[in-house]
Amino acid sequence: MTTRATVIGVGHYLPDRIVENHEFADGLDGVIDGTIKLDTSDDWIRSRSGIERRHFAAAGQTTSDLAVKACEAALADAGLVADDIDAIVLATSTADLTFPSAATMVQDKLGMTQGFAFDVQAVCAGFVYALTNANALIVSGQAKRVLVIGAETFSRIMDWTDRGTCVLFGDGAGALVLEAQEGSGTNADRGILASDLNSDGRYRDILYVDGGTSTGQTGFLRMEGREVFRHAVEKLASTANTSLAKAEMTAEQIDWVVPHQANIRIIAGTAKKLGLPMDRVVTTVQDHGNTSAASIPLALSVGKARGQIKPGDVVVTEAIGGGLAWGSVLLRW
Ligand code: UT7
Repeated sequence: MTTRATVIGVGHYLPDRIVENHEFADGLDGVIDGTIKLDTSDDWIRSRSGIERRHFAAAGQTTSDLAVKACEAALADAGLVADDIDAIVLATSTADLTFPSAATMVQDKLGMTQGFAFDVQAVCAGFVYALTNANALIVSGQAKRVLVIGAETFSRIMDWTDRGTCVLFGDGAGALVLEAQEGSGTNADRGILASDLNSDGRYRDILYVDGGTSTGQTGFLRMEGREVFRHAVEKLASTANTSLAKAEMTAEQIDWVVPHQANIRIIAGTAKKLGLPMDRVVTTVQDHGNTSAASIPLALSVGKARGQIKPGDVVVTEAIGGGLAWGSVLLRW
């Protein structure tokens, strides 16, 4: 018998405020003091990225607040309560404070009085890193049930004068409940079948936040979009194929690709490279924008709610972000 980390619940939360593309050009109030008004258009944002709208957290609403709501939905979906959970692994680059971890804040807000909680920081690849770490905790017997969360408030690290970045990102959270279940050890098992993680710090300057302990300020996101784009399709298809090879599976066996939702052109390019049609890809980028580490669990939750992802389906998630860091997780839902 082989222990498999199996998804038994999923949920998400999006803040109430929805901002449509045209609002950036028309004048957007209530996000910062004053009005955001950019030389941009709905047509540019939509045609270059596929994004139509995104959600922004309310003043005072933090990453851990969004995460808690996603966890409550995931726990309800699993029919569990917080004290049934042994560990929380939270992927984020926008934790409420430098420390303690946002995960311990979620632990407290859920009323969970035992177990352990920590954050994982691999930017947009954070959720595949978190899933891989949670899988290791379960397979090694250190935890039986793990809440794996991606939660972000990227609206807090936007330079609202930089039209090349601030129209692309949004806020939100998604969560999975993973449980140790016994499998046969073959790729017919439900649960995580394989994963692949990579990073290459030589590319750290093409996507970063210009703040932290070195500046004493939180800082703003800086991105050379075209350069990141250049790396994305190739590395995403390659990592998905590596996970498939580890599980002795092929792309034809994939029911759903659930990619990081940064840009519809990257999503489509990767699907094409994998030889898969777009009707096997879950896309939420049009409604959420790029929510960094939250985008994959959001898409998994929305994909299930839409009736796309069903028990037994083979799902591959893949993501790339600052670092560069990238990776994939292959699982049977
Ligand atoms: O999640 C982490 C990973 N991140 C990503 O995967 C993002 C990867 N990159 C991308 O998605 C795309 O590169 C972007 C959507 C960021 C940009 O699309 P692009 O087709 O690469 O455009 P570009 O950066 O080459 O800019 C084209 C033009 C420029 O003008 P010039 O130099 O051609 O005159 C920009 O100044 O578009 C201009 N531009 C804009 N115009 C209107 C840039 N931002 C805007 C804007 N509205 N918001």
